Amino acid sequence: MKVAVIGAAGGIGQALALLLKNNLPAGSDLALYDIAPVTPGVAADLGHIPTPVTVSGFSGEDPTPALVDADVVLISAGVARKPGMDREDLFNVNAGIVKSLAEKIAVVCPTACVGIITNPVNTTVAIAADVLKKAGVYDKRRLFGVTTLDVIRSETFVGQLKGLDPTKINVPVIGGHSGVTILPLLSQVEGVEFSSEEVSWLTIRIQDAGTEVVEAKAGGGSATLSMGQAACRFGLSLVRALQGEANIVECAYVEGRGEHTRFFAQPVKLGKEGVEEILGYGELSDFERSSLDGMLETLSNDISKGEAFAK
Ligand code: NAD
Ligand code: LMR
Repeated sequence: MKVAVIGAAGGIGQALALLLKNNLPAGSDLALYDIAPVTPGVAADLGHIPTPVTVSGFSGEDPTPALVDADVVLISAGVARKPGMDREDLFNVNAGIVKSLAEKIAVVCPTACVGIITNPVNTTVAIAADVLKKAGVYDKRRLFGVTTLDVIRSETFVGQLKGLDPTKINVPVIGGHSGVTILPLLSQVEGVEFSSEEVSWLTIRIQDAGTEVVEAKAGGGSATLSMGQAACRFGLSLVRALQGEANIVECAYVEGRGEHTRFFAQPVKLGKEGVEEILGYGELSDFERSSLDGMLETLSNDISKGEAFAK
């Protein structure tokens, strides 16, 4: 497997590259690309870690060398929030970055599975989809908005609240990746009961967790280390599924059946071609049902904005 990290010199990119260097299966290739000139140095640095994963690094204007023969492309290229900003405020810069990277992917590695981390994810995924579509290479099974950070935060916060081991907790998170569009399904956490006060408090904590980090970093960026961990979890699941391992399930923001909106984060079974099956998310509580209804207009507007931009 060849995994390309795009935006690899950034906060997420470097954390993710380190985790992948240590955790990809033996024989994998890890290719790093960033416009920052330090990128070949990041690869050289990682290359001194004794694991059976080879690392290469490229900078400059052209991501092609990193993308050639890539099976998985994880994109965290772009700007991050500062206090007082919404993820939407990143659109003006990041939309163009994702568009031009998707145009390159369409030519260089059109069958790669692409995971988009760059915000605003609700919108950048729609941009990438329509750029790939315009190029005639779009396969909805192979494009993902990476929402795993919402899942690992939910697992962490539930573990803290209930005094449980967070590695044994599973929380599906559906919808999208900003504010009210992030909906953790706390009613589906096995073996754990929540009061209605806990559900409303925890839901808001999970929805606002990105802002919590942005404010704590006080102008120094947004979540990078937890995001590196989340993207590594998602990337490794994808690699294992592409290599034929069965029953790999992750929540991700994908183009599904369009039951709610064109793109929607939900549990998906991964397989050799990317998404093998969109899984249901079961019965919702009354709180979750009304939260879902309440997010749809926002999510749908976020998606339309991306579609309009790609045009
Ligand atoms: P960062 O500023 O530390 O790194 C971004 C990197 O992208 C920089 O190294 C920059 O040189 C590079 N870059 C910019 N334009 C590029 C291009 N055209 N090609 C290649 N590289 C390019 O930012 P970060 O903290 O790593 O965050 C990156 C993005 O991820 C932001 O948009 C942030 O909002 C988003 N993010 C998403 C999630 C999520 O859950 N999906 C979580 C955290 C952050
Ligand atoms: C997060 O959830 O931490 C990311 O989307 C970054 C941000 O701007 O909040």
